[in-house]
Amino acid sequence: MKQGKILLVGFGPGAVEHMTYRARAAIEEADVVIGYSTYIKLVKELLDGKEVVRKGMTEEIDRCIEAYEHAQKGKIVALISSGDIGVYGMAGPTFEVLLQAGWTPDQGIEVEVIPGATALNACAALVGAPLTHDFCSISLSDLLTPWPTIARRLEAAGKGDFVVALYNPKSGRRTQQIVEAQRILLLRRKPETPVAIVKSGYRRRQAIQMTTLAEMADCEIGMLCTVLIGNSSTFIKQGLMITPRGYANKYADLTGEAKEGEEAGRSLTMGLISWHACVLNYLQANPALNLHKVALYFDAPISEILKAIATEQTSEAAEKQAWQIEPGQIDAVLTASSGWGKLRAVIRNEGTIAELLLDTTSFSSKGDWLNITNDHFHLHINKQNIANAWFYSYGEKQQGVYFTNANGELLFSLLLVKSEGDYEEAKLNQFYKDSKQYRKIDNI
Ligand SMILES: C[S@@+](CC[C@H](N)C(=O)[O-])C[C@H]1O[C@@H](n2cnc3c(N)ncnc32)[C@H](O)[C@@H]1O
Repeated sequence: MKQGKILLVGFGPGAVEHMTYRARAAIEEADVVIGYSTYIKLVKELLDGKEVVRKGMTEEIDRCIEAYEHAQKGKIVALISSGDIGVYGMAGPTFEVLLQAGWTPDQGIEVEVIPGATALNACAALVGAPLTHDFCSISLSDLLTPWPTIARRLEAAGKGDFVVALYNPKSGRRTQQIVEAQRILLLRRKPETPVAIVKSGYRRRQAIQMTTLAEMADCEIGMLCTVLIGNSSTFIKQGLMITPRGYANKYADLTGEAKEGEEAGRSLTMGLISWHACVLNYLQANPALNLHKVALYFDAPISEILKAIATEQTSEAAEKQAWQIEPGQIDAVLTASSGWGKLRAVIRNEGTIAELLLDTTSFSSKGDWLNITNDHFHLHINKQNIANAWFYSYGEKQQGVYFTNANGELLFSLLLVKSEGDYEEAKLNQFYKDSKQYRKIDNI
């Protein structure tokens, strides 16, 4: 008996010219072609003399099982999918079905995945060059994915300033998902952010709408559409949606000289190695800004600002100084803080700031919890969440310790409090003494 084979074929967006040579050859080679009925129509001129199995939209697992059954009988089976078969397509479910049935790659039936142009790059090509920088795709279908997962991914894409391609944006039954996606992205992105809605790209009924994030949900959108949402620098010019590659960060104009401090072929001054130096320059140029505002400016966690000060500070006399506390000494520092007199605990959370005046006699620990309690408030901090702590000193203006979590975000700070306009000398000296005792030697 002939060896069976499963060819998992992505045939591109629809038009025959955008099918790869290998996809075409695979369909021609197959004895049996299995696919969703619309896909079968799109490749009808390649099907002469073949057994064709048309399936409905929801019969995905049936398609996989049937492909396996034909292959077990020694047939060459092409399971076809539009775009790329591995992108929201049949490749994953087919492998799941095969593996569950005990199939292994070295055991008889060969499986080949044949890639194709997925909807996001086909649709991008029709509207210009919207994917020239980092992008992601998110399917709005909640048929198999819980909505909180989709919402979390939308939030992350918004926060990460990714260009976003929305697959399965809307159907007859699922009409509110696109509205919710718009709401979530608008929390992070401007209403005028360019959006392209491409329906049936490279197919007979192709239609393109250029719009904005604010108006996107009011446009005509359906299951045959992919929605491309720009990042914060995407623009529309001459009807083309373009996401810049980033040349403006380095050059005065596209063909001009590199900007001061920048060099062709080298990382930006804001690259990994040197961006901390930029933080220091910014701090020097804006001495009145607090650490929180500087972190917001760089859109970076506060621990990165403290790390920049700690590693880049040039002398012990620098006005702003930071030292990382040796990990493992955080408890010791909390205990030592009882020698620093009155303290101000600052807790920030998304636009809410609590400033609590305390004295360290109100500290106690139980298990993982640091409890700061007095007649006016109870503050409970899970010490497991403290990943790093930093001494920070800003001349005569501020002294204290910043406690950050594993993402580098501020959990809380403990700051020394002045009495009648000055720090008590003995307490301040104790703070500096402790900062020397517990600081991490290499400071990063
Ligand atoms: C189940 S996914 C299949 C994706 C496919 N495997 C791919 O790689 O393009 C179906 C979704 O893909 C998008 N899509 C597929 N072909 C398209 C086309 N020709 N034009 C626009 N969007 C398309 C739509 O968002 C549609 O709801």
